[in-house]
Amino acid sequence: MRSSTFLYALPLAALAVSAAQVNPRSHKSRFHRRSSPPLPQGNTPGPVLLRSFAQSQGLAYVQGDNTAVMTVDNYSDLSEGENRNSVRIQSKTTISTGLVIADIFDMPHGCSVWPSLWQVGPNWPAGGEIDIIEGVNNLQLNQMTVHSSEGCTLDKNPPATTVNNTTGKVEAFTSNIIATGCATTATSNAGCAFQDPSTQSYGTGFNDIAGGVFASLVQDSGIQIWRFPRYAIPSDITSQNPDPTTWGAPSAYWSSSSCDISSHFYNMNVVFDITLCGDWAGSAYSQTCGGSKGGASSCAAQVTQASNYKYASWKINYVAIYQ
Ligand SMILES: *[C@@H]1O[C@H](CO)[C@@H](O)[C@H](O)[C@H]1NC(C)=O
Ligand SMILES: *[C@@H]1O[C@H](CO)[C@@H](O)[C@H](O)[C@H]1NC(C)=O
Ligand SMILES: *[C@@H]1O[C@H](CO)[C@@H](O)[C@H](O)[C@H]1NC(C)=O
Repeated sequence: MRSSTFLYALPLAALAVSAAQVNPRSHKSRFHRRSSPPLPQGNTPGPVLLRSFAQSQGLAYVQGDNTAVMTVDNYSDLSEGENRNSVRIQSKTTISTGLVIADIFDMPHGCSVWPSLWQVGPNWPAGGEIDIIEGVNNLQLNQMTVHSSEGCTLDKNPPATTVNNTTGKVEAFTSNIIATGCATTATSNAGCAFQDPSTQSYGTGFNDIAGGVFASLVQDSGIQIWRFPRYAIPSDITSQNPDPTTWGAPSAYWSSSSCDISSHFYNMNVVFDITLCGDWAGSAYSQTCGGSKGGASSCAAQVTQASNYKYASWKINYVAIYQ
């Protein structure tokens, strides 16, 4: 990546902003919604609000220290069934092969909260989707998932090229595989996924160490995601001269040995969003938040109280795209 081009970094002004009312919505409509507004109505997300509205309501802004903040409305108490405003931000730039680096101080978390940092191509699932950060409720481990059109799977034993300098072992990736079918079908949209074994990868554990850097590299040979805690960010990233060949094994790796990358992943936007409830946070709610676990009796009841969204914010140092 030494010869790559630095395209842009946040501030927010470089990005398109939209605020959406997001509760409740189905996992599927979440993806339909991803193409672009205007959105279908019905069992879908609420209306898309304008960038100026999101900014005037304090849902997206840049702090004095240049940290970009995106947040759920954390000051309005609502009746059950009313929508709570949230934010989605999407890059104007699209990329096919290339490297996305996101330096994040804080990610949203808490009961009913479903944040994601992802890349998504056109005509979903044709242009592909790479979920770099994703989780729900009080989970502590980040999930990294690829969704694609037919003909793409996750190779569990790809050719490994990276020697771990501590153990001497050759490694292809360091996270745990949780699903291998990448193609989205009429009956399943689970995708092929890895779970990071570290509690520093998501939610409070990530925020407690002031976050860190996620890097997503798409090449014809495969897709790789690295995570670096703030105390161990490689200097070549900080100096804006990233060289992934020096980073060691990635957290997650989808090899081209079982998926033709260039035909399944192209022209992707980079997106941050914060969903409330919906298929994943809603269906996992009773296990992870209900009863004695700290949340209200249901996901919909959780949404009514502004005080439940104290920690539902992205705080971003910068995003850089190299290609
Ligand atoms: C090397 O292996 C050790 C022990 O499993 C692990 O803690 C460390 O993160 C690995 N290093 C890299 C760069 O993957
Ligand atoms: C591992 O060791 C090799 C050879 O000394 C070095 O080039 C590489 O940068 C090291 N990688 C890491 C992740 O420390
Ligand atoms: C709402 O979120 C913003 C951004 O994280 C934070 O600065 C503010 O203190 C929060 N307000 C409340 C009432 O929690």
